[in-house]
Amino acid sequence: MDKKVTVVGAGNVGGTVAQRLVEKDLCDVVLFDIIEGIPQGKALDLTEAVPIEKHDAHLMGTNEYEASKGSDIVIITSGIPRKPGMSRDDLLATNRGIIKRVTAEVTRFSPDAVLIIVSNPLDAMCHAAYETSGFPRSRVIGMAGVLDSARFCALIAMELKVSVENVHASVLGGHGDTMVPLPRYSTVAGIPITELLPKDRIEAIVDRTRNGGAEIVRLLKTGSAYYAPASAAVEMAESILKDKKKILSCAAYLEGEYGIHGLFIGVPVKLGAGGMEEIIQISLTDKEKEALKNSAAAVQELVKAMKKMD
Ligand code: NAI
Ligand code: 2OP
Repeated sequence: MDKKVTVVGAGNVGGTVAQRLVEKDLCDVVLFDIIEGIPQGKALDLTEAVPIEKHDAHLMGTNEYEASKGSDIVIITSGIPRKPGMSRDDLLATNRGIIKRVTAEVTRFSPDAVLIIVSNPLDAMCHAAYETSGFPRSRVIGMAGVLDSARFCALIAMELKVSVENVHASVLGGHGDTMVPLPRYSTVAGIPITELLPKDRIEAIVDRTRNGGAEIVRLLKTGSAYYAPASAAVEMAESILKDKKKILSCAAYLEGEYGIHGLFIGVPVKLGAGGMEEIIQISLTDKEKEALKNSAAAVQELVKAMKKMD
């Protein structure tokens, strides 16, 4: 195929991302991991599904960065996931080291790629990748808002017993407890949910969205969510590969937008062939602005903590 995507980390998220990319026939996929056998085994397993799934996209698994050469997109999922009782922030030091190493290698072989970061704590890991890569901000984007919005969307559809196809939901902010679900901008067939649900039900859904990741960690016990996260990363990749120019919530490096400077945080962005092509600025109430500011402050703390590790 004429497009190539490297997925770094062949674990739960990475393996599922690779599967979804090829089954949607979007691109050839290189699946990379440091553990010998895992990326090769998953790539072979997926290749043996091709006669049934019937797509033209090819996969290869590797422990060599050279195989990633000339990728259009690199999706970085390498790192440790959280276990019950851990917060995303507990992963900071370990995953920072991994992201820095991985970014240095993949950007050497694919200097024109768009990087989609998935590893947690997400916004801080985007920072680590941005600084290490030296790429423009348009080519370093974090996946979290698409997942958080999808969770919000699924919960709204369940609550109102309507087709999820009718629901659009919006979540801004950092990928953590301070994320900012926006009921005013979340609609069912164009109608804001603030007109369809009582305040207490909206608050309950917002709360469950904020804790969506932890809810799955508690259920799985040995790791964190991966089906919806993989779908979210692939939706972003598809918009870039096909130059669809979808507007999606993504972690983007803000340079004054929303009054935030020099920080990755989730905002609506337009994704096309150039990566992040535009940051969409929507009007927020004072309360929503305050919530976004709090979320940015939480990300800033992690960035500060990373600076001390240098
Ligand atoms: P996992 O443990 O299943 O897979 C991680 C993989 O990374 C492992 O195969 C491991 O060998 C590999 N790895 C570790 N160091 C590496 C290195 N230096 N180079 C290449 N590969 C390396 O974990 P899972 O569930 O796939 O999650 C991956 C990361 O994504 C975690 O940090 C998790 O918290 C994060 N995550 C973020 C989400 C988001 O919304 N942004 C959603 C879901 C997961
Ligand atoms: C999630 O929200 C673990 O960040 C990941 O599921």
